[in-house]
Amino acid sequence: MARVFSGIQPSGDLHLGNLLGANLNWVKMQHEHDSIYCVVDLHALTLLKDPEALRASTIQLAQLLIAIGLDPEQCILFVQSQVPQHPQLAWLMECTVSYGELSRMTAFKDKSNRDGTKFVSAGLFTYPALQAADILLYDTDLVPVGDDQRQHVEITRDIAERYNSRYGDTFVVPQHVIPEAGARVMDLQHPERKMSKSEEGAGTVNVLDDLKAIEKKFKRAVTDSESEVRFDIEAKPGVSNLLSILAGATGGDPATLADQYEQYGPLKADTAAAVIALLEPIQQRYKELAADPAETERLLRLGADKAEAIAEGVLARAKQNIGLLS
Ligand code: AMP
Ligand code: TRP
Repeated sequence: MARVFSGIQPSGDLHLGNLLGANLNWVKMQHEHDSIYCVVDLHALTLLKDPEALRASTIQLAQLLIAIGLDPEQCILFVQSQVPQHPQLAWLMECTVSYGELSRMTAFKDKSNRDGTKFVSAGLFTYPALQAADILLYDTDLVPVGDDQRQHVEITRDIAERYNSRYGDTFVVPQHVIPEAGARVMDLQHPERKMSKSEEGAGTVNVLDDLKAIEKKFKRAVTDSESEVRFDIEAKPGVSNLLSILAGATGGDPATLADQYEQYGPLKADTAAAVIALLEPIQQRYKELAADPAETERLLRLGADKAEAIAEGVLARAKQNIGLLS
């Protein structure tokens, strides 16, 4: 059975881009593969965080992931900092990737240049080495992520291949899995940029948003001055984004769905309805889980123990092959 691994940062609220780009795929894959999912709190430290807020977001994100359908009996769900092999292997990864390769990462360039980022931590730069450690520690075959993570999975493959050729066969070389519809959900107000945790407001639909507010956000979504419904990302980014969201939420195909609409109004209304139908039960389940954080912490601890049992063996192999004492 193929091994699946993916991670998500506990920073900001979970939004529709996360869900359609990655997390719904996680839910699906847990039934088909041997799946491991991680709340990557160490990655969140690359940008300055309030300690209490970080702890609360970590638990909340785990609860949201369970609410969308991850079942701790079907997959391993754990928090990165509870498995010490992650930062340990990350150092070996840092010594296997070059400064030049890390400098080419677009996520680093974006985040380090963002307005308001006064302190660019070294961790923000070496972040992909920790991500490679996350993935390689589990002999991962498949990494389900949104399109923005393609480059990070590619650098992980390069690191694995380099390590294997320098020190002998050590790591499985993983592949990314990117969904067809929803791989890149764009901001509803600025459809030329991706929906993101850092862009608060009318363009981002959060999983825990009030349902009425979601309806409004879709009603006000930016389209264009034509009136034809057509899937054309270049010429019609706003309308194409709505079609992608509708397709992602209902399992359809954006270009085919376009044929069913002549006006923007009904497209917006149907997209809002599909998103609300998707989110309503998730919100309900989340409310129940949020009432008992101690139970979530217990489940996460069990997940970490299962993850560590696998990571330990792979780290030992990597240390042995590179010449460290055991
Ligand atoms: P992040 O929110 O950056 O921790 O990303 C968590 C997961 O959600 C990753 O697999 C991303 O590729 C995916 N993701 C984040 N934003 C979007 C988006 N706007 N569209 C599609 N996928 C996304
Ligand atoms: N860098 C990813 C993001 O920002 C999160 C992440 C960390 C991840 N480690 C991972 C994703 C391992 C997949 C596999 O979205």
